[in-house]
Amino acid sequence: MSDFKQWLWAMPKAELHLHIDGSLQAARLLQLAAKNGVEIPYNSVESVEQAYNFEDLQSFLDLYYLGASVLRDEEDFYFLMKDYLDKCHEQNIVHTEIMVEPQTYLPYGVTVETVLNGFRKAIADAKAQNGQSALMILSLLRHLSEDEAIAMLDSVAPYRDDFVAIGLASSELGHPPSKFERLYAKAKAQGYKLIAHAGEEGPPEYIWEALDLLHVDRIDHGVRCVEDTELVVRLINEQIPLTVCPLSNVRLCVFEKMADHNLLQMLQQGLCVTVNSDDPTYFGGFMNENFESLADALALTKEQALQLVANSFKASFLSDEAKAAYLSQLQDFAAS
Ligand code: ADE
Ligand code: ZN
Repeated sequence: MSDFKQWLWAMPKAELHLHIDGSLQAARLLQLAAKNGVEIPYNSVESVEQAYNFEDLQSFLDLYYLGASVLRDEEDFYFLMKDYLDKCHEQNIVHTEIMVEPQTYLPYGVTVETVLNGFRKAIADAKAQNGQSALMILSLLRHLSEDEAIAMLDSVAPYRDDFVAIGLASSELGHPPSKFERLYAKAKAQGYKLIAHAGEEGPPEYIWEALDLLHVDRIDHGVRCVEDTELVVRLINEQIPLTVCPLSNVRLCVFEKMADHNLLQMLQQGLCVTVNSDDPTYFGGFMNENFESLADALALTKEQALQLVANSFKASFLSDEAKAAYLSQLQDFAAS
């Protein structure tokens, strides 16, 4: 590994855009399918991995939801979360904000309580073992109705303290943020922070809607903002964080190749961009592989990498004190 890549690995980092189901590793998927008697059209790690060949967001989501259908009991959810957090420890991701999508498991009779018991225990173990920090985000599925999303928000009421924010994911086109105005107003009144995927495949109008109708604190992806100069000015002036996922964008054909990715141009323009993995198993890399890919294709510098990571800590939903502590740890690392 080059000195620069070693340095990237060693840097203390934060991840703000990660779907826990997107970290389900192929071996674990096969193991759980066998354990829980779920029929899937794959019988080896290689055959699963061969399917990681997507044309667009929807072709990915079809496989992603199939993968999530093998999870059943508390232990399954524990290991899904613990596998990801172990990976974070290995990659020096000291803080992570994780999207959890309980609506996905409802058709299989899995309760919110089962899901959260497993996830909570894994997070507690990672904290106790390695001092890792993790927050959960309730991510609602936009291909389902607003009423279903509100019903899910209501059913997590007994677990309010498990979630710092709500988000919006799944098929973007045809499901604009405006579909979820009531949901976001309700969540805001309950003190949740607000995020939404917008401008991944969807047009800049979806980003405007997320800002003006949903009043989000961060935008997930947002890479299509560059098509609208007025929007870029707004995002810069208000320093709205964008949680960008380079490998995801290339695998889902938002950009043809990494050399075409606009992340560093956006950074240079003064946008508050961050680097994240989205669905690391499916897109060929966790957070460090995303940084490495930017280094290889776009000649990322140390200064840019430090700025991107500082942006992540600033854009996190941690307390001001915790943010300051991580930023000072980052400064010490930069000076070392
Ligand atoms: N769910 C998981 N990954 C996603 C993505 N990249 N966009 C929208 N929904 C998702
Ligand atoms: Zn995402």
